[in-house]
Amino acid sequence: MNTHDTATDDAQPRHFLDVDDLSAEELSVVLDRAGEYKRALSAGEDHAHLHRKTLGMLFQKASTRTRVSFETGMTQLGGHAIFLGADDIHLGRGEPLKDTSRALSRYVDVLMARVFNHENVEVLAEHADVPVINGLTDDAHPCQTLADLLTIRERFGGFEDVSAAWIGDGNNVAQSFVLGCALAGVELTVATPPEHAVDDDTLDRAAAVGTSPETTGDPEAAVEGADVVYTDVWVSMGQEDERDSRLRRFEGFQLNEELLEAAPDAAVMHCLPAHRGEEITDGVVEGERSIVFEQAENRLHAQKALLVELLGPE
Ligand code: CP
Ligand code: NVA
Repeated sequence: MNTHDTATDDAQPRHFLDVDDLSAEELSVVLDRAGEYKRALSAGEDHAHLHRKTLGMLFQKASTRTRVSFETGMTQLGGHAIFLGADDIHLGRGEPLKDTSRALSRYVDVLMARVFNHENVEVLAEHADVPVINGLTDDAHPCQTLADLLTIRERFGGFEDVSAAWIGDGNNVAQSFVLGCALAGVELTVATPPEHAVDDDTLDRAAAVGTSPETTGDPEAAVEGADVVYTDVWVSMGQEDERDSRLRRFEGFQLNEELLEAAPDAAVMHCLPAHRGEEITDGVVEGERSIVFEQAENRLHAQKALLVELLGPE
């Protein structure tokens, strides 16, 4: 919360709208802190570093993991979170986003938003006096990437010599993963149909912070020898009208047992929710190599570390 009567009035909040808002060093600090919070939680040690802080959580789209991991995380850090469904507040009745942002900034210490247009998190950030966290837009899902990188680091002990393959839609989750891999130094190949490739801006930004991924239209070539194979839904929230054409274009991109023969030791990742029988088979989600629920759990630890990074310990 910014009370507007203190010397902090001129301080600019730090936002997290995509992965490259962190430097490689900051990413490493956040992941280390996430690991420490995970250990402290399982040891029953107090780590209430955000005592009396409040997180506002604005949702224009559905969520299971993001909502519950942020709210639980704030409780574990000694703070509090408020769920704000767009239709429960005046935003859904036409109050401008910039007014919503300025009003909420007077109450809460940090805002997290899940919206459709990416520009809307930028508008929120432009007008907020508190840090704004992107909880998923049509273009990016950076909180997911923090959890994904934590999961990869736990599995392989680091990022050096780890190779990953993204199969399917070059969507929001893919684009933030591209940036995260570039920043962390994970070698990545992205296989998508040409109509659903990762956008050029993301590839340029990846090159600016590390190495841009190799791109291909051939899922088998991408998976060959990979340590990690990652996919996400073919029809994201808000794309339901395009369902039939999308399913046709993604034919041959399913992450199934046959495709995984090209990478016999690969760990399988999915941000969830999964549409079994579309982008991934039930057998692969439930199989021994699946680490999808480790990813889901790590949302909690990674976001707690991010919140403390943006707000600073008490
Ligand atoms: N992966 C993810 O963001 O899940 P939710 O949509 O359930 O929040
Ligand atoms: N790409 C998916 C991710 C959900 C967490 C979507 O945007 O619906």
